[in-house]
Amino acid sequence: MTASRWPHAFFGAAAFYAMIGVSWGLAMSISKDHSTYSAHAHLNLLGWISMALMGTFYALLGQRVPNWVKITNFTLSNVGVICMISGLYLYLGQKGPPSVFGPLLAVGGLSVVSGFFVFGLTAVTTALRKPSLAA
Ligand code: HEM
Repeated sequence: MTASRWPHAFFGAAAFYAMIGVSWGLAMSISKDHSTYSAHAHLNLLGWISMALMGTFYALLGQRVPNWVKITNFTLSNVGVICMISGLYLYLGQKGPPSVFGPLLAVGGLSVVSGFFVFGLTAVTTALRKPSLAA
């Protein structure tokens, strides 16, 4: 069986969000403007930590999970992080009107939650599945 590239995709995205997240933290510290700290925190926790944990699961325990499940999880989680964090940034930093940040927060929030449900159901069904003889 060839190794899946999906854990790499999750880790690549996680590392990308981490670089933005810690730079954001540094910018807040230097500028002493902490108004968007909640968006920074959510970017680091959803984008960096959660995405890296999902990648770890697919690399170690979820190798037999079908690719369409990983693609769905990856797409929902990334659309969620991008929309939710940009919406939070506009809202908290008062940098955009409700007509812009409202839809971003709605799509982002629903997408993040859906991504966690795809991941959660996959993790539970994987745990309940009978192990193969080789495992
Ligand atoms: C160079 C790295 C980082 C810097 C300079 C930094 C800086 C900051 C600053 C200035 C705040 C605002 C604190 C406040 O106003 O209350 C903050 C909040 C926060 N950061 Fe970071 N951060 C960094 C990395 C991270 C990472 C890696 C995570 C999580 C994985 C994280 C999670 C949080 C959380 C949860 C909060 C909210 C804490 C609260 O309620 O006050 N940060 N950070």
